[in-house]
Amino acid sequence: MIIHNYHDEEEMSREVASKVFIALKSGLIKNLALPTGRTPILFYNYLADLINENQFKLDEIYTYNLDEFIFSNEKQKEVLSYKNYMDEHFFSKVKFPLKNIHFPSKEQDYDQLISSRGGIDLALIGIGNNGHIAFNEPGSEVDSPTRLVNLKIESREQNAILFNQSVQNIPDQAITMGLKTLLSSKIIFLLATGPSKKEILKKSFTENICRNIPASYLQSHPALEIFIDKAANWITK
Ligand code: GLP
Repeated sequence: MIIHNYHDEEEMSREVASKVFIALKSGLIKNLALPTGRTPILFYNYLADLINENQFKLDEIYTYNLDEFIFSNEKQKEVLSYKNYMDEHFFSKVKFPLKNIHFPSKEQDYDQLISSRGGIDLALIGIGNNGHIAFNEPGSEVDSPTRLVNLKIESREQNAILFNQSVQNIPDQAITMGLKTLLSSKIIFLLATGPSKKEILKKSFTENICRNIPASYLQSHPALEIFIDKAANWITK
């Protein structure tokens, strides 16, 4: 595990974008798992800039988003979908062939699709305040498949902040990439910023691995890199 410390979110986002861009240019990284949340917004901005400034072609890059809500009506879908979030913050800014973009859904076997394409080369992930990764909530098994999950109230609260909504408006179910596929990613970049992440990062990486903190499973990943800002840094005082 490598930990990269940065002064603030701005610096961290620029550096992660630069590392991801170098990885894409190398031709070795083709399948990306992508997160949502407030944390990666600036990173997406910088990555889109690098792609455009260098006229980098995305024809052979494939994206697999980590999760999506289950909506109870069309209005909810319009306002809260992670698909719209991705369009707004990334896909609309670059020329991505639509067929290269994937989201988990009830209609397809996401794990089978990803494995038939050679697995995830690089997964970018955030962390929930309760230790969730993607929407693998506390209690998730290490070999869990992509599946429908009931969301914990803390996860809905975190998303209420992202979408500037009240928590009752946030769906209580989602479909998430399972830990089996996620933890099989060749490389994982975990991004975390701000003081609210400090405690859960400390628990995830200094205590024993346990299913009540799914992020703790990351301890055993052979190529994990953690990117944090000063406020999230649980190591130095
Ligand atoms: C949502 C996503 C998670 C993400 C989390 C982090 O809950 N489903 O994949 O890790 O947001 O949120 P934020 O970056 O807003 O703290």
